[in-house]
Amino acid sequence: MKFSKRIVNVGPSTTLAITAKAKSLKGQGFDVVNFGAGEPDFDTPLHIKEAAIKAVREGFTKYTPTTGIKDLKSAICESFKLDYNLAYEPSQIVVSCGAKHSLYNIFQVICNAGDEVIVPSPYWVSYIEMVKLAGAKPIIIETSTHNDFKVNCSLFKKAVNKRTKAFILNSPSNPTGSVYNIKELEELADFLLTHNIFTISDEIYGKLIYDDARHISIASLNKEIFRQTIVVNGPSKTYAMTGWRIGYLGTSDDIASAIGRLQDHSTSNPTSISQIAAVAAIKGDQSCVLEMVSEFKRRRDLMISGLEKIDGIHFFKPRGAFYIFCDVSDLGLSSEEFASRLLEEEYVACVPGKGFGLDTHVRFSFAISQPEIEKGINRIAKWVRQLRKK
Ligand SMILES: Cc1ncc(COP(=O)(O)O)c(C=O)c1O
Repeated sequence: MKFSKRIVNVGPSTTLAITAKAKSLKGQGFDVVNFGAGEPDFDTPLHIKEAAIKAVREGFTKYTPTTGIKDLKSAICESFKLDYNLAYEPSQIVVSCGAKHSLYNIFQVICNAGDEVIVPSPYWVSYIEMVKLAGAKPIIIETSTHNDFKVNCSLFKKAVNKRTKAFILNSPSNPTGSVYNIKELEELADFLLTHNIFTISDEIYGKLIYDDARHISIASLNKEIFRQTIVVNGPSKTYAMTGWRIGYLGTSDDIASAIGRLQDHSTSNPTSISQIAAVAAIKGDQSCVLEMVSEFKRRRDLMISGLEKIDGIHFFKPRGAFYIFCDVSDLGLSSEEFASRLLEEEYVACVPGKGFGLDTHVRFSFAISQPEIEKGINRIAKWVRQLRKK
């Protein structure tokens, strides 16, 4: 088969690949500790599942409007307003099959060949491929622990030119767990408005936040930046609903309508039953979210206290999401060598940083139980000690 040029340049997702390898080893009976997961290990809360079961029983199993049912769009508008001070109308909301799908649609609709999209590195693996699939060019701005893995105007200036169309902001970030504060967002917003650059703000981890960090949507800062931003969010991570495939975005009427047309001729509506489940998630009792966040915080602290004792691994303390991004360059291995050897020799899975744009690092997810974390950290500590002896 002579494949399209579009797909030939697209690599597989490294995060999904390592999870598949870990699952396969587990299937063969090996005791794998999987720090690779990109999803909460909690079950979807019962009231959400019950709402979906009721929807099936009542026959809510047919096509819905392409961009989502009225009840879900109203629930999303309420949550955007209440949680992040963003005032969207239901006509400005598009519900899709996961936040990944929302993001994919955005690039398809706003990018032309030759356009450039600024992506801060380390980045979530799919941004680069999505931008390329839309015919545009990703322009990477490198960040590091020196600036808490955040971009600022002086880094931006070097990357901007007249082809710059959009900028992807991901706070809290996957893979670093870094969270922008209001002052940093205000500076960025001024710069983006002056240079007429569109912001795509991926806020999927907005509710998973620790210590005194606060999630602020850049779009909430003023009316001008609100108009120049597309906000992406969804229930996948917040309510342990990754398999239900619901994501959504808020934007202007014209962009929402263009995305609706794209969806009309691609997926049509997201699953009817999942939409009902998402209404229950967003409008229902939020104590399940608070419980998950407290448990994630305990696990993060457990990981930190274990990793602190391992010579040769340096980490950035995450303030959001459920990942710890670790610098393993002192050990003399590339991120892929580190991850594959750790999996093969100790049955511990993590994700190589290469896929996130930083080959000196690996990503550990703490979406696993505390006993698993303890077991995994002990294995890593022993393995690293041996590695350093050689
Ligand atoms: C930063 C980021 N954005 C978007 C997504 C996609 O979320 P969903 O499962 O809703 O498609 C993920 C999932 O890993 C993510 O980490």
